[in-house]
Amino acid sequence: MEATGRTALYICSVLFALTEVSSEYIHMPALVHHGIEGDPLFLFVETHFPLDDAEIQGTWSHTKLSGSRTTLVTFTKDTAITDMMYRNHVLFREPNVSLLIQNLNQGDEGTYHLSLNIEFHNKTGQVIKEERSVRVTVDAPVSTPVIEKSPSYAVVEDKANVTWTCSVERGTRVVFQWLRDNVPLVPSDRYHFSRDNSTLLISPVKKEDKGTYRCVASNPVSPGEDSRALELNVYYGPYNLEVSSVQGLRTGEVFTINPGELVFFECQADSNPPNSYVWISKRRNASQVINEGPRLEVRSYRLAQAEQYLCRAFNNATQKQDEAQFTLVVASLGTEKHIQAGGSVSWLAVITVCSLFVIGCMLLFFLRRNCHPKRVLLGIYNRPFTEQKRPHRSGHEDATEDFGIYEFVSIPGKSESAQASCRSLARLESLQDMHTTIYDVIRHVPETPSQSLLK
Ligand SMILES: *[C@@H]1O[C@H](CO)[C@@H](O)[C@H](O)[C@H]1NC(C)=O
Ligand SMILES: *[C@@H]1O[C@H](CO)[C@@H](O)[C@H](O)[C@H]1NC(C)=O
Ligand SMILES: *[C@@H]1O[C@H](CO)[C@@H](O)[C@H](O)[C@H]1NC(C)=O
Ligand SMILES: *[C@@H]1O[C@H](CO)[C@@H](O)[C@H](O)[C@H]1NC(C)=O
Ligand SMILES: *[C@@H]1O[C@H](CO)[C@@H](O)[C@H](O)[C@H]1NC(C)=O
Ligand SMILES: *[C@@H]1O[C@H](CO)[C@@H](O)[C@H](O)[C@H]1NC(C)=O
Repeated sequence: MEATGRTALYICSVLFALTEVSSEYIHMPALVHHGIEGDPLFLFVETHFPLDDAEIQGTWSHTKLSGSRTTLVTFTKDTAITDMMYRNHVLFREPNVSLLIQNLNQGDEGTYHLSLNIEFHNKTGQVIKEERSVRVTVDAPVSTPVIEKSPSYAVVEDKANVTWTCSVERGTRVVFQWLRDNVPLVPSDRYHFSRDNSTLLISPVKKEDKGTYRCVASNPVSPGEDSRALELNVYYGPYNLEVSSVQGLRTGEVFTINPGELVFFECQADSNPPNSYVWISKRRNASQVINEGPRLEVRSYRLAQAEQYLCRAFNNATQKQDEAQFTLVVASLGTEKHIQAGGSVSWLAVITVCSLFVIGCMLLFFLRRNCHPKRVLLGIYNRPFTEQKRPHRSGHEDATEDFGIYEFVSIPGKSESAQASCRSLARLESLQDMHTTIYDVIRHVPETPSQSLLK
């Protein structure tokens, strides 16, 4: 019905537009008037001919939306008869053919039709017929819209739906528009609008729905009334967990740092509310929480070998967590820069063993230079001769001379351990599978008499 009505109106408009071009005697500037309820509306008609040179006769009629038609005014140049029912409602002042409607109400909606016959004095007997129509709508202005959200509290991503409603106290033919952060929202698979757009259902809510929402209500007589802004808080994450450090060399999940370096690690993940972070060390197959918070400080000299760390981020609102594991290798970066990307655990093992071996060798070299086993041994060998000169003393009384470099050697498979002096160092180079620990000073006197060393 409405569509055919609209089409008819459109055709009429086109026809009038055409006749308008062909005839310049009267003109109506607007074909549609949007009247405000309670206000007057002036249906203005321009006459493009001298009224003094012609006689006119015409009518204004009103066709309501229901289709009923009433003749409001019948007029000539000198007289006008207004329908009794409309005497206080419409105002016509001949010979001006414009019509004033006072105090508009919903009943005034519809089409107003002007029919005018003109007979020029210099062409008596030839009547020119003019017809014009204008459509009138009457609307109440829109009051400030009220925006509401359900639920009113913050929601968890993927687990909740949010319904927004926008309402106005006053206003007819109101259309609503929704904006998030001032960007208009359009229907999508998660955004469902009611028929008049007064409600918006977001189902389910996602991280990107977080923002400031507003609704705008408008109608033909109110260009757009903004509601207040309302915040939607969505809990989400953690996402994109990442461990970073400004120091050291990063290769995939492996950080290589220089010996003795103090290294800070930063753990970051996108999350609302902010995550809580824990750092976990996976030393010797046992997990242990070593720190809380987004930062971890590691002193590299404390690390004997490659160590596994884990940063775990937890969002207590979404009850979700994420973790990132990384390996810390202590090595001189000058020689370790060629580590290949994506090194596997076996690679790590090789690197670690190599590093340890290098460190071991360096230590060995250092010790051999400073210790001079021959010199120490000489001292020990020589001792009996000095003791012979001082027979009252036992070997232990001269313990200060026993200070030196000692090595603790444990041989796998054997429970007993042996204590050896520097002289064993030379042999140790070939015993790769022994675990050795080097002490530079032992403040402890051996139980065995010095003589036994000679044997
Ligand atoms: C008719 O009345 C209106 C308002 O008073 C005025 O603006 C317009 O010029 C008048 N038209 C003629 C033809 O006098
Ligand atoms: C008659 O009078 C009208 C208005 O004054 C004028 O526009 C028109 O040209 C005249 N016609 C003739 C034939 O004189
Ligand atoms: C959200 O809406 C969907 C349908 O759109 C429904 O299946 C689901 O149960 C709703 N979830 C909640 C938490 O109301
Ligand atoms: C509802 O909103 C959408 C998107 O803004 C718009 O395309 C559509 O025309 C609106 N519908 C009504 C009835 O206002
Ligand atoms: C290390 O942990 C794994 C898995 O928890 C377990 O199967 C394995 O026995 C552990 N190894 C040692 C040496 O504790
Ligand atoms: C989540 O953790 C924050 C601190 O990180 C705390 O203030 C808040 O109460 C916690 N919320 C819940 C639901 O546990």
